[in-house]
Amino acid sequence: MDTQNAYHPIGIFDSGFGGLTVLKEIRQQLPGYDYLYLGDNARAPYGSRSFETVYEYTLECVTHLFNMGCELIVLACNTASAKALRTIQQKDLAKFGPHKRVLGVIRPTTEIIGHYSKSGHVGVLGTPGTINSGSYLVEIEKFFPDLHVYQEACPMWVPLIENNEYQNEGADFFIKKHVQQLMQQQEKIDAIILGCTHYPLIINQIKKYLPEQVHLLSQGSIVAKSLTDYLLRHPDLEKKCSKHGRIEFYTTDQTSAFDKAATLFYGQNINSKHLAL
Ligand code: DGL
Repeated sequence: MDTQNAYHPIGIFDSGFGGLTVLKEIRQQLPGYDYLYLGDNARAPYGSRSFETVYEYTLECVTHLFNMGCELIVLACNTASAKALRTIQQKDLAKFGPHKRVLGVIRPTTEIIGHYSKSGHVGVLGTPGTINSGSYLVEIEKFFPDLHVYQEACPMWVPLIENNEYQNEGADFFIKKHVQQLMQQQEKIDAIILGCTHYPLIINQIKKYLPEQVHLLSQGSIVAKSLTDYLLRHPDLEKKCSKHGRIEFYTTDQTSAFDKAATLFYGQNINSKHLAL
């Protein structure tokens, strides 16, 4: 293939479906590029798994994406960003070649959260894996050392969303419970990061249990904006990313099940292909 036709899609990785909410926003802001989405549905959810397991699974998927032509990969999964990104960047990336890059979804929100808070008290909602990793605390501290950060793990939210049960009363019970538990830690919280790719789907239900002035930061558009800036700051890498407006979806599990559930997250019909691990 000549350089003009070379296929170097931007890789978007998630444990399953959630990264599609991020991809949707990225594609809206950067429509010309090629994208390759990989959901590791066969081994999802990652949210309750150990550091070692999440690292091992994520590295395997990242390797596949690089082998499929990606030069740049976004880990569109908080759990993978929290538990695997740093090790991959520091230990593994060089093996794939000097120009390959892997980015995560935690940094873009942590570097702006302080601008949304007047009280100096902010919250983070996420999977148990993300919350227990402490990654949000570490990253926010780097950018806003004076902010007070309160966290709440919401183990039921991902299963409720993935089973399409998030719009009923049962779901409301768990949404209310965790939002209240977060606010009970500190009533002055006035900005909250939705630290999981699935949570944009329940943003209106979350809002119901919060005072009106509380800002909710949903990652998709923030990550997309951050990727846009990143590409501007890295013109050599940007040039390598191919631009035919193509998009491909891969899942490590059954394609028919993926296509059915994925529509909920992506808002459009999807025809995925299977990737054997
Ligand atoms: N995508 C994951 C995240 O953002 C949630 C799903 C999972 O636990 O695998 O944390």
